[in-house]
Amino acid sequence: MEQISADPDVMRQLAAIRPFDTRPSGRVSSWPPLPGETLGGHAARQILRLCEAAGLSGNDSVEYARTLLSVLGPVAERPLDMPPPYDSFLSDDHTPVEYSLAFTPDAQPTLRVLLEPGCGAGSLAENGRVGLRAVRALARRWGFSTQRLDELEDLFFPAAPEGPLALWLALELLPGGVPKVKVYLNPAASGEERSVATVREALGRLGHDRAFGSLPPSERPLFFALDLGDWEEPRAKVYLVHRDLSAREAPGLVRTPGGPARSQITRFFRTAAGQAAFGPGSRLGLDVPLDRRPGLSCHAFTSTRSARPSGFTLHVPVRDYARHDGEALDRAVTLLRRHGMDPAPLVEALSAVTPRRLEDGAGLIAYLALAHQAGKPLRVTAYISSEAYEVRPPAAAPIARVGAGR
Ligand code: TRP
Repeated sequence: MEQISADPDVMRQLAAIRPFDTRPSGRVSSWPPLPGETLGGHAARQILRLCEAAGLSGNDSVEYARTLLSVLGPVAERPLDMPPPYDSFLSDDHTPVEYSLAFTPDAQPTLRVLLEPGCGAGSLAENGRVGLRAVRALARRWGFSTQRLDELEDLFFPAAPEGPLALWLALELLPGGVPKVKVYLNPAASGEERSVATVREALGRLGHDRAFGSLPPSERPLFFALDLGDWEEPRAKVYLVHRDLSAREAPGLVRTPGGPARSQITRFFRTAAGQAAFGPGSRLGLDVPLDRRPGLSCHAFTSTRSARPSGFTLHVPVRDYARHDGEALDRAVTLLRRHGMDPAPLVEALSAVTPRRLEDGAGLIAYLALAHQAGKPLRVTAYISSEAYEVRPPAAAPIARVGAGR
């Protein structure tokens, strides 16, 4: 594999982005951060090494590091010994950056990065305005349309927004230096009590008139997401929160016509949540709930001719159900192998973002997700924290409740 971080050319280009991007030790990321380290320097180095782990070229990696810095804007310059710009909901330690690797069988994983462009803004309203400006700047740069977002602006960007976010941006870092773009919006922007109506209205405006009625019951919608730009089949996605979700209930959340199989979802759930002790066929422990942090489902709508979604994803917040990241990685490896995927890039990715031992913290792997999209191979995704500000200590005692008498 190409050695990006050691390539003198690349290092020169990066040195031009930020003076702190090279360091004599050759260590690319470290925690706790070195004196003088900035949020942007930390994240840029992580992305470079992650790109390498995902098999991207040196040029693409530098391009993506630049893009990340420009989306972060002025907060990129913020020294890491200052507190996070604000209590971002994007990650547990409030770093406005999170990575993910999406695996399919027989292919390199796709690296994605989730960002909060408005994280340095003084208010949630301004956070949203900065976010919209960032999306539109990328749209001009790469020549894609923001029409689908524009049509929803009044719904998600009221004058006095509420809720845990205004706008997040995700980039799928494909070979070639031009990413695919996704935007995450807040259904509770006009108040949590309006979030269901907001999602129904947003789906309707995009032509998915009957889509809302096909969603499973949930506590509340968490995100409304849109694919923008060069997608074969751009999706509108609804993320739902399911408090106390169990392995028995999870398969019942699926609304896509063709799969995935119930047993696949049950097994994924049990492995990711650390409830696999009873074995795949066992009916014991099926009702053990995710009672620390809820599971999420995501429903992707592509065709306006169908009321049903064409995509389903189950997100398990593994970090709250594993003692430490060594355990979380073991589960990820089991899941990847089960689905015919090579776990090596994930192992490499974790050491790309941090030099710490996996046993020394919990939360580096934030979520594990199983994704089905009609006509495509099944995907397993691991969400990887940046940990720019904090590492959550490992849990003192085993967390899994399986065998605890339920
Ligand atoms: N940090 C939030 C959470 O843990 C939101 C979030 C960030 C999230 N990345 C995610 C949710 C990936 C689901 C999947 O819920």
